[in-house]
Amino acid sequence: MTAQTGYPNHPKIAIYPGSFDPITFGHLDIIRRAIMLFDQVIVAVARNREKRPLFSEQERMEMIKNCVTDLPGVEVDCFHGLLVDYARKKGATAMIRGLRAVSDFEYEFQMALVNRKISEDLITVFLMTHDKYSYLNSSIVKELVSLGADVGCFVPAYVKERLYDKLRKK
Ligand code: PNS
Repeated sequence: MTAQTGYPNHPKIAIYPGSFDPITFGHLDIIRRAIMLFDQVIVAVARNREKRPLFSEQERMEMIKNCVTDLPGVEVDCFHGLLVDYARKKGATAMIRGLRAVSDFEYEFQMALVNRKISEDLITVFLMTHDKYSYLNSSIVKELVSLGADVGCFVPAYVKERLYDKLRKK
């Protein structure tokens, strides 16, 4: 193992990657927990072409930035290509993933093991979301908005407005 965690004065940097299409209170809960453990947390929006996101990379980054203004040590960025390469470039030694329920586990376990196989330097750290967000994900929020529901208890007001702009104003 060559992880930079061995250097006492090296800032501990973690990447929190994801689609964030859009960011929810569940994601924000994980970011708040992660910044208690690391000196810097980079929230990294994935340029995932397969998923055909509702929001562009720039829009997703802008929404996240708007939601983390009160959290020093949190940076927002985007990446494409392999996460482990991006993490190395950023000097990160950990990747944060949120776990909501057992159903998340299989996919997350597979991703953590693949990442470990291709880079021993990146340690996956799983954080549990608050149980009040255990059922929440971005897809459900988008569906609720498109069907006319109020999603104010799932996403910050700024994100709710962006969702309404996208999905309701035709
Ligand atoms: O929020 P998501 O969509 O579950 O995030 C998945 C993400 C972006 C973390 C994952 O797809 C990823 O790391 N993509 C980058 C490409 C990569 O490194 N793939 C190998 C990991 S198995």
